[in-house]
Amino acid sequence: MNNKINVALLLIATNKYKNFVPNLINGADKFFLNNENINVEYFLFTDSENDFVSNRKINKIKIQHLPWPFMTLNRYEIFLKSKNELLNFEYLYYIDVDMKFVSNVGEEILSNLVGTRHPGTYQYGNRLTPEENPISTAYIPTNIEILYCAGGFNGGSSKEFIKMSEVISNNIKIDLSKNYIAKWHDESHLNKYYSENKPSLILDSSYCYPENWNNLPVSRRILALDKDHSFYRN
Ligand code: GAL
Repeated sequence: MNNKINVALLLIATNKYKNFVPNLINGADKFFLNNENINVEYFLFTDSENDFVSNRKINKIKIQHLPWPFMTLNRYEIFLKSKNELLNFEYLYYIDVDMKFVSNVGEEILSNLVGTRHPGTYQYGNRLTPEENPISTAYIPTNIEILYCAGGFNGGSSKEFIKMSEVISNNIKIDLSKNYIAKWHDESHLNKYYSENKPSLILDSSYCYPENWNNLPVSRRILALDKDHSFYRN
């Protein structure tokens, strides 16, 4: 493509979540890998007809909205729709659109398999809320130590990220065939994947800092915005 490091930032926004896109992109333009050695493009999976504004390229991929929790649960399958295009990038990152970049997120995040420590782990311990039902492919036995990661910001090299997406979407299909959805949806499966494929980097929760918290021992780079869950999920 060019002699820069090419990075794609993946976004999913259907139904009411479209409202978050302008602010997310605005913050990302300013703070996400805003470095002259790096070329960032957005991949926006959406049911929107609108054009969004950025000084970076926005690749818009049309998808259909599904009721809660399928837009979160199916995210890895959705990315695979663009597998061939995405493999042209060196790195892929995903962020929930209801998050907000508020400070620089730079090259320190570039690594082969990257998770983000869930902010709840500081108070409730490293395991937090793994899937506990052995019927699920996301089940993590109690003797396996984990540092529970948030589903809202993660990434890695494109090869690794696509491989992970294939494993996770396949595991979710197996669960669905048994009429089972893991406790924290895609996030449970992500943590299962990390328990078997050690991340090369786990970012601290400055990359997923709940907007209205103020007691974490880290700075604020990416905020997880407070929202009215019942409004957005309907
Ligand atoms: C909550 C968060 C959920 C899920 C859960 C895991 O704080 O809103 O999305 O990550 O923690 O325990």
